[in-house]
Amino acid sequence: MTGSGMAKVIDGKMLAARLRGEIADGVAALKAESGVTPALAVILVGENPASVSYVTAKERACAEAGIASREIRLPASAAEEELLSHIAALNADPAIHGILVQLPLPKGFDEKKVIDAISPEKDVDGFTPVNVGRMLIGERCFLPCTPHGIIKLIEFAGVDVRGRHAVVIGRSNIVGKPVAALLSRKGTDATVTLCHTGTPDVASFTRQADVVVVAAGRPGTLTGDMLKPGAVVIDVGVNRIPDATRPKGFRLVGDADFDSCAAVASAITPVPGGVGPMTITMLLWNTLESARAAALGAGASE
Ligand code: GUN
Repeated sequence: MTGSGMAKVIDGKMLAARLRGEIADGVAALKAESGVTPALAVILVGENPASVSYVTAKERACAEAGIASREIRLPASAAEEELLSHIAALNADPAIHGILVQLPLPKGFDEKKVIDAISPEKDVDGFTPVNVGRMLIGERCFLPCTPHGIIKLIEFAGVDVRGRHAVVIGRSNIVGKPVAALLSRKGTDATVTLCHTGTPDVASFTRQADVVVVAAGRPGTLTGDMLKPGAVVIDVGVNRIPDATRPKGFRLVGDADFDSCAAVASAITPVPGGVGPMTITMLLWNTLESARAAALGAGASE
């Protein structure tokens, strides 16, 4: 099944570059006004190749925005207590405004316990129960980066989701659940269906969707025949597919089958270059906000 034309490709790199320019300006202004340099601590445990590349990209993005970053690398064999004591020290360090523990942690680590150890006022990933709770009840908080970036991308694409039907595929704590919450909150006002591995016929929902956010972690989760013509597709997937023709031996694909979806949709995010650059951008945003709050001696802000 094909639509009448090709979808508009939503350029996440362009929006990310624009916002990063604004963040860099904000960082420079904060330094000039208060002498405070925003600083992010990045903790990487083990050597998961995707995690190494995400952490590298985050540190580079910090440097480009004038944000200081402090990297802490621990071996996969490190004791959980060691990780927790690093977090405790960073919580207490007034020069650090954001703390990020790259997920997933190696086997044997209690991810919940580790996240819970991060001070909510420095939780620039928005992963702690306090920030998740604040988000759900509409209080000021650090919004989780990927969901926040998705909302910004949808706005940037000129898509008004008010009263429209958004279908989210995937119920992870990092993306699916929070993006469903943000899409349905007051002011954004989409009607949201959350599909997951327990949903028997996902296509029966996506065919009624004006917007589909696919965050299932599996290539080919969304295909063009599952879409209503003119739907907007936000593809959160980052999957490495072996490809001997590429220098790194793999290429990245999303969770949506790009060609068949682009033939039916009105707009779609590419992988790479769609949601990914926005995730890091919103991390910089939260780190700047945290530093501003610290400079004012106030609490965290959205
Ligand atoms: N793993 C996948 N996405 C993320 C993210 O946004 N933050 C952290 N800390 N880990 C992740």
